[in-house]
Amino acid sequence: MRESPESSGGSIHRPVMLSEAMDWLDVREDCWYVDANLGGGGHSRAILERGGRVLAIDRDPDAVARFLEESGEAFSGRFLAIHGNNADIAIHVREARIRASGILFDLGWSTIQGEEADRGLSFSEEGPLDMRLDQTTGETAGALLERVSESELSEILSEGDEPLAHPIARALVQARKSGRLPRTTVDLAAFVSGVYYRKGFRRSRRHPATRVFMALRIRVNREYENLERSLAGSRQALEEGGGRLLVLTFHSGEDRIVKRTFRQWVSEEAADYLFRKSLPPGKEEVLQNPRSRSARMRGVTFVGG
Ligand SMILES: C[S@@+](CC[C@H](N)C(=O)[O-])C[C@H]1O[C@@H](n2cnc3c(N)ncnc32)[C@H](O)[C@@H]1O
Repeated sequence: MRESPESSGGSIHRPVMLSEAMDWLDVREDCWYVDANLGGGGHSRAILERGGRVLAIDRDPDAVARFLEESGEAFSGRFLAIHGNNADIAIHVREARIRASGILFDLGWSTIQGEEADRGLSFSEEGPLDMRLDQTTGETAGALLERVSESELSEILSEGDEPLAHPIARALVQARKSGRLPRTTVDLAAFVSGVYYRKGFRRSRRHPATRVFMALRIRVNREYENLERSLAGSRQALEEGGGRLLVLTFHSGEDRIVKRTFRQWVSEEAADYLFRKSLPPGKEEVLQNPRSRSARMRGVTFVGG
């Protein structure tokens, strides 16, 4: 089992917007809550410590094993963990035979995964171009780059809001033809920086490869499709008995999907907003954890009936 600060009790990497999420989830004793993104387990632990019961899901088998090893005993009988895709949330809830009073999504990848070089999620560590959150299945980013056409790659990068999607896609496909396709995270980051440099961009606050990495990760893990399916599944799980749904997003592509879906539900009178506008993290949290800066929380409630 890999060690990391987050895995040793959650004290150093506090989950994003923890207290806001707990307040809005309105955790009640002995009621069931779904933590659809277990990760380091900080949100699950907070629900359990408030007396709630948790069904947790993660597509990373290591996240599930780690939580069970560290906290399984302490919370036995009140905690179920599933290695699976939260896009199948309605099936997981049905098979667990629980009635969910609330569901929490904390999208994306965890700090623990970012620190594992072999996942290739971060260019600050040299690693293979894998980028899968579930390394037991699916195509790696490297394999994707080996086969996509220039126009497909340009579309993938545009979906991640990459401003130089087209020139980067063209340069990558040309590099592939001449056998110079980047093979590691550090190589790919340097390659993208080179395209930016040649286009006359010199300095920016963010590393030029940030959006390329995000776009490839989104495609490799089918994140947008999964989000659409998991929202639909959450509605199925909550509509009849009532309950709250909270979603923490980390970039505009995800937030757009959640915003549009919630607006649609409210217009159909299927759900009500818990709060109308998305909530950002507090200033103090952003100072302590700069990664939380881009987080936004949205929430709705189903009345049931
Ligand atoms: C930001 S982390 C969650 C952190 C967690 N809330 C905590 O308190 O530490 C996101 C987690 O969601 C998982 N994940 C991403 N997409 C998923 C999906 N479609 N189904 C299930 N888990 C997913 C990732 O593997 C990662 O562990």
